[in-house]
Amino acid sequence: MSGMGVSPNGRDISLLRNEDVGCCYRAIASSGLRVVWEITSSCNLACRHCFRTAPEGHDLDTARALSLVDEMIAAGVRKIAITGGEPLLRPDLTEITARLRSAGLLVKLASNLTMIDPDTARGLSEAGYLEVGFSLDGPEATTHDYIRGHGAYARLVAAVAMLSSLQTVQLNPVCVLGKFNFARLDEIVEKALTWGAASVTFSDLFLIDSPRVLAPREFVMAERLDTHAREAALTRIAELRRLYPEIAIRTVALSDESVACSAGTSVVHVDPTGRVNPCTLYHLDPPISVHELTFSEALTELAGRVFCEGTSLCRYLDQTW
Ligand SMILES: C[S@@+](CC[C@H](N)C(=O)[O-])C[C@H]1O[C@@H](n2cnc3c(N)ncnc32)[C@H](O)[C@@H]1O
Ligand code: SF4
Repeated sequence: MSGMGVSPNGRDISLLRNEDVGCCYRAIASSGLRVVWEITSSCNLACRHCFRTAPEGHDLDTARALSLVDEMIAAGVRKIAITGGEPLLRPDLTEITARLRSAGLLVKLASNLTMIDPDTARGLSEAGYLEVGFSLDGPEATTHDYIRGHGAYARLVAAVAMLSSLQTVQLNPVCVLGKFNFARLDEIVEKALTWGAASVTFSDLFLIDSPRVLAPREFVMAERLDTHAREAALTRIAELRRLYPEIAIRTVALSDESVACSAGTSVVHVDPTGRVNPCTLYHLDPPISVHELTFSEALTELAGRVFCEGTSLCRYLDQTW
């Protein structure tokens, strides 16, 4: 076991805490503005559990994506999570992340890591520090591919081998827990450790009650953990934190603890078509769009709208949890 605060490959993990959070909008009483940017609605996979919604319009083109980056920098954004769909499908991804990082922003890339080639890996690593939050649904192919489709795990393993040799990349796998992988907690943490990951995050499987979501409701209903299993998972995670202090083990929405929501205040969501919303689930009508406004103007407009009131209650998720 290596020392507290240092991962097996020598990376400093002291800034990563073991924490239990409600969702990415309730996570951090953060210093500075953060953006969750769904950079594309396209995906190369069709995961059985995915809360992705059917595409509504076109992704922002490169020119507007890059000018939006400049506007986010000017607006004082500190951290940005680039997600999708699958961000690696965007040919301009390297250019976008390089521009963000050259301005000193912390960038997290959420990816399934099934489509990365050596040139892209090098390109992504060259512009400085990059956090890669990749999906890991099981410690071996059968479990992972049950969710993601045949061959996804083999491609992920190849991508991790490529990325883990790059000093500027920090690997932070994210595992959505359901009945299919609940018994594999220990192995998933051990797998993350052998890959030199700085953290591993276990998330509850969300049931988002919307006809726009692509995953079949019956699948999510059948695979979701019940209260007893979630408590058992949290107990085992507490033990794993003691056993493996060299990796941060985080959870999302497994604990019932209330955390104030920062949606629309210190965290905002940008959808693939350029609409700015308080969070992934809260869609403003009429929309606020970066096709008509600059990012700063969109933030001002957002501040004038009424939404989550900063409580621990989320009227979108709590209906179904
Ligand atoms: C929507 S994906 C986008 C990034 C990338 N395509 C990937 O799979 O990592 C972001 C994360 O959301 C997770 N996710 C998808 N559907 C979910 C659900 N119903 N409940 C909880 N997490 C979910 C995925 O497993 C993934 O870790
Ligand atoms: S979880 Fe990620 S890879 Fe899977 S379908 Fe959803 S967006 Fe695509």
